[in-house]
Amino acid sequence: MERSERMGPMVVDATTEHGRRGGWAAVDLPLGVVHLRAGGTSVVTTFLGDAAPQVLHWGEDLGDVPPDVLASLDLADTAPAGHNAPAVPVRVPILPEARTGWMGRPGLAGWRDGGEDWSPRLHVDRVETDCRDISRHGSSVSAGPGGWRIRLIDAEAGLEVLLEIELAPSGLVRLRASLTNTAGSVYHLEELSPVLPLPPQAREILDFSGRWSRERTPLRLPLEFGCRLHEGRHGRTGFDAPPMMFAGEPSFGFRSGEVWGAHVGFSGNYRLWIEKRPDGHQVIGGGELLLPGEVSLAAGATYTSPWVYFGRGSGLDEAAHTVHEWLRGRAGHPSPRRPVTLNVWEAVYFDQDTEHLVRLAEAAAGIGIERFVLDDGWFQGRHDSTAGLGDWVPDRETWPGGLAPLADRVHELGMEFGLWFEPEMVNPDSDLARAHPEWMMSARRDLPVAWRHQQVLNLADEGAFDHVRRQMSAVIERYGVDYVKWDHNRDLIDAGDRRHGGRAGVHEQTLAAYRLMDLLGREHPGLEIEGCSSGGARVDLGMAEHAARFWPSDCLDPLERQSIVRWTSQLLPLEMIGAHIQSPVSRTTGRTSSLDFRAATAVWGCLGVEWDVTEIGEGERGLLAEWIAWFKRKRGLLFTGDLVRADSPDPSAWVQGVVAGDRRSALYEFTTRERSGDAPRGRFVLPGLEAEAVYRVRPVIVGPGPQGLVPPPWFGPSNQGVEATGRILASYGLRAPRLFTDQALLFEVTAVSGESPRSLPGA
Ligand code: DGJ
Repeated sequence: MERSERMGPMVVDATTEHGRRGGWAAVDLPLGVVHLRAGGTSVVTTFLGDAAPQVLHWGEDLGDVPPDVLASLDLADTAPAGHNAPAVPVRVPILPEARTGWMGRPGLAGWRDGGEDWSPRLHVDRVETDCRDISRHGSSVSAGPGGWRIRLIDAEAGLEVLLEIELAPSGLVRLRASLTNTAGSVYHLEELSPVLPLPPQAREILDFSGRWSRERTPLRLPLEFGCRLHEGRHGRTGFDAPPMMFAGEPSFGFRSGEVWGAHVGFSGNYRLWIEKRPDGHQVIGGGELLLPGEVSLAAGATYTSPWVYFGRGSGLDEAAHTVHEWLRGRAGHPSPRRPVTLNVWEAVYFDQDTEHLVRLAEAAAGIGIERFVLDDGWFQGRHDSTAGLGDWVPDRETWPGGLAPLADRVHELGMEFGLWFEPEMVNPDSDLARAHPEWMMSARRDLPVAWRHQQVLNLADEGAFDHVRRQMSAVIERYGVDYVKWDHNRDLIDAGDRRHGGRAGVHEQTLAAYRLMDLLGREHPGLEIEGCSSGGARVDLGMAEHAARFWPSDCLDPLERQSIVRWTSQLLPLEMIGAHIQSPVSRTTGRTSSLDFRAATAVWGCLGVEWDVTEIGEGERGLLAEWIAWFKRKRGLLFTGDLVRADSPDPSAWVQGVVAGDRRSALYEFTTRERSGDAPRGRFVLPGLEAEAVYRVRPVIVGPGPQGLVPPPWFGPSNQGVEATGRILASYGLRAPRLFTDQALLFEVTAVSGESPRSLPGA
């Protein structure tokens, strides 16, 4: 049957309510076109007969589209017949199938031992939704945010897929698929990855690279024919993992240019790609990267892919907001009152001493610290990185009285007590490895190459899982641990499950780690987990289901850190990103920076200190306390406001900020990253405010302030600042202060009218 016949003119005959979110209800078939709208985004999906659904449009909100117009959207995009091309126009379903003529990456790939069933033909069998506000006219459906479950079957191949699509109120889309093998023989799965279409105006890619202590380094490249495939094979998310991989209009920035991004919410191996084919289609998609033989489904068995997140907007800031708002809407999302932390790692490294650490805790409490974290080095045999991982009991030499003298003192001082673990790892030099060498992962008889002297403990093995769970649980219970810094310091190389002849085990290992986190969370209600992996090698939305805080990098040098946080916050809101003030000389770059710059950088995140504050002078300690007090006054705004990053024409200076939801207040940071060609610099802009509202902008000077500061006249005699409208601040701007390089100056912005600026005339 021709496509136009199937689509037919739609009869406006009924309006159906399919219940409230949380209650799933079946949707009558056949469906024609489904239009979902939320948060400024539209997703239009077409069902051609019973063929697997295809998204026609994922982009800007198309508004209230009349049913007959909606019905013809598919037709409007149907290509004319081509020369030397498939007889029917090529279609690209959400799980792309080769049988439609799509010659790009497939969405579902696998096979049986005889080689059969490698090219699926999925048909829609059942659709249900928990969307409210749904209206139906014939086979055209319009709805607001909510979830859709589409059951697809290929009876001949013995495959059944449950495709889940959610549109969040923020405009974030997430997709995942579960594949069940309904035939009698084993089905070997290679790929189960959804895609969404990219419109032709997406012509430039933003991908990321990165390495230890320099995570998430942006890379720009043109979107050309072929496939930009970003594979993560580290067995963890990786330093180079994109917060999202983006395609956008040429030269898109933070505040302008349409962008479309995708992210795989998984902490193991993954694929993300953008593919452009000469047939006029281009798509963005991703999923778990399955190693050979890693997932072979027995009869009746099911594999569920990770959620793949799709965020878009006009500029990268809007795309980030779709994720931040969605994360903030979750039950149990961390409250804005994120505790100020002191982590002892850079203060003492492995040189742990009870008396010294108790003094450090006392000094920490004195400057306003609220959580004290004992890092690596506390457990049996751990005096450096060569031994001890796997033996989660306090070291008898370093901690003859156990951890109680410290943990109790920390609690007495009114602080939370945090403790470091690396539960997925084991040193061959440990009691655990000596007792259970078979628990170390390996694809072969010999062990994989060592990395930081450690191997991976096979948590998919119940014995290993239980051992770690019991030891961790006992320590958490015994010392009232409030917070676990959960580290993971190596890639998974040749990570095989020795119980099964070395079968690839990254998939199972990742799920087992999640299970362990959940179990410990249930056993110890209120326990918070910080996700860490040699710094920031495990930042992803899979981990965000388990961790409330992320350690984005081992590099605390504020200049580097500004860039790392700028891109980490493309995915995570600031209240989920740890940010510590280090000692004056960076341990990773050797660069020296002022306390003002270190602090002004670290307040853009969950503030912490990673410095031996027992060894610093009164002056510095006082200044640290002042910064901590300032942060505590502002964290409510920092951790609920919208992230704003200005597109600066002058790359030597960056401007970022957060703007309160009601647009009545904001904070900005102006950072000099290198010396400018202009002396003095020109104006800088403060975007994101209400255009017609009037604001006062004031510099924030804590202590002596940034070095080399020569204020422009608008600061006024006592830094009272200046008034301007939001539009003026966003487009005309204010003259930049003179500052030395590697300095930051904060600005507080407050609406001057008593009314909410949203209600001001003309707003
Ligand atoms: C890597 C982390 O990122 C550091 O903060 C520290 O916890 C070390 N591991 C400890 O081994």
